Amino acid sequence: MKKSYIWPFANRVSHILLVLFFVVAYTLGDFKSLLSYHVAFGLALGVVFFFRTGWGFVGPKYSKFKDFDFNLQDLKGYLLSVFSKTKEYAGHNPASSWAIISMILVAFLSILTGLLTYGVEAHHGILSFLYSPYLKKIQIFKGVHEFFSNLFLAIVGVHIAGSLIDKFIKKSDAIDSMVSGHKHLSKVINVKTTIFQNVYTLVWISFSVFSLYYLIFTKDNIFIIW
Ligand code: HEM
Repeated sequence: MKKSYIWPFANRVSHILLVLFFVVAYTLGDFKSLLSYHVAFGLALGVVFFFRTGWGFVGPKYSKFKDFDFNLQDLKGYLLSVFSKTKEYAGHNPASSWAIISMILVAFLSILTGLLTYGVEAHHGILSFLYSPYLKKIQIFKGVHEFFSNLFLAIVGVHIAGSLIDKFIKKSDAIDSMVSGHKHLSKVINVKTTIFQNVYTLVWISFSVFSLYYLIFTKDNIFIIW
């Protein structure tokens, strides 16, 4: 097996940020006194996903959505052979491809309904002009936000379970590759990034970290009431 370079710095660092921001945002959602932190981490998660979506169009090979395997026959084949070794995937396998696109979509729905809950029902944040005492009483957006957040958690659960099955049963090095960038494949593939992609990465990672810093440390920002 030949050592190949598949996931550039942007994918690996953004993945760590996603894990961190998701875990903190989800955990703090249950504590009323920590609501502002919940909103800050949730919005920062949205920033990371926003740039990951752009990376799906301007990123290098295998990171682009057009290189994802959305073929339903492939997905069926992959799932039916879940406990045996299947064909090698340089990029995302069909189950990962679907899980990743679902996570992005559901994360955005969760963040949007979170902003609506915060604005319409709590009279805070950029949608506070939509505040309605009636909607506050029936808490419709809160319910929808909880639904999408739990759906997000469920997809993350399936994603993690799939990654562990991949590692321990299929003996794939997908998890290691999300840390090191390297996979061992039958032929050498080395993904290279362009100058534009390197600049995009710099903006992506700095903006994601800075947005969290700004949301937490700027006490009179328009997004969060502290
Ligand atoms: C907790 C929240 C998590 C979220 C929101 C998340 C999200 C994502 C996303 C968006 C990608 C695509 C990365 C890219 O193409 O740039 C990805 C890939 C991946 N993630 Fe996660 N992830 C999470 C946790 C984890 C954990 C805990 C593990 C390890 C057990 C893991 C293992 C992987 C692997 C192995 C891949 C690459 C899959 C493949 O090769 O097709 N993820 N994840």
